[in-house]
Amino acid sequence: MRSLTTRRFLQIAGLTAAGLLLAACGKKEEAPAPAAVASAPAPAPMKVYTVGTDAAYAPFESQNEKGEIVGFDIEVVQAIAAKAGFEVKFINTPWEGIFNSLGQGDRDMIVSAVTITEERKQTMDFSDPYFDAAQLIAVKEDSKVAKFADLKKMKVGVQTGTTGDEAVSKLLGKTNTNIKRFESTPLALKELEAGGVDAVVADNGVVVHYVANNPGGKFKTVADTEFVPEQYGIAIKKGNTELLALVNKGLADIKADGTYAAIYSKYFGAPLAPPAPAASK
Ligand code: ARG
Repeated sequence: MRSLTTRRFLQIAGLTAAGLLLAACGKKEEAPAPAAVASAPAPAPMKVYTVGTDAAYAPFESQNEKGEIVGFDIEVVQAIAAKAGFEVKFINTPWEGIFNSLGQGDRDMIVSAVTITEERKQTMDFSDPYFDAAQLIAVKEDSKVAKFADLKKMKVGVQTGTTGDEAVSKLLGKTNTNIKRFESTPLALKELEAGGVDAVVADNGVVVHYVANNPGGKFKTVADTEFVPEQYGIAIKKGNTELLALVNKGLADIKADGTYAAIYSKYFGAPLAPPAPAASK
């Protein structure tokens, strides 16, 4: 009885609302389709873009205890999306094959502390740079290593296919068996702790973060100006100029309104540092 009354009431209310809506529409407009009568027209749903990220790269991207993907890169992309008016869905994607997933259309973009390189630009497009980086060496506290060239005869751990791998391949020779390649940077650093490699070469932000958070590992870092300055960009499928423009616009907006600087200082503590000086050669 009661639910019937309620239903009846809703029916009447709906009809009344529809009547008001029709009246408000004025004469020039055609009556909307019946399904849309009772409610205000819904805004067009926002486009959802999939974002691939190798979430084993703190503080840029990692998984928290709840399994959520978090980090500097994640917040930057979320802020860009909010500004540019699209939604994003992050998908943990192994580094090996991450660029294939973009090329094949399984991901719309990649944010993964990806260094913009001439070689990669052949097969993908990049947003404007959003972060300055460089390679950094991690060794045990008691290591004698003082510069990159000192690694020449040593066992060096890298993440396969990264710019760290590239730098070490150049110094030691690509096929040198002293290069130990790992599927993630944390795995390489664990091997350093275990004594399986003498050094690890990886992005400075990740190495500094790892060393600071693993005091038991007794690591130290060694910088070298031999390493060329790098810049991170968001990778987008080659030729998707529409998405590229959206992302660049959002990035420029979050840089202009202070959002980027706020995310930066949340993760890196200090105010925005000036861009790294060009390598002196
Ligand atoms: N910046 C380096 C590169 O582009 C390493 C990036 C690795 N990123 C990651 N999430 N594992 O090669």
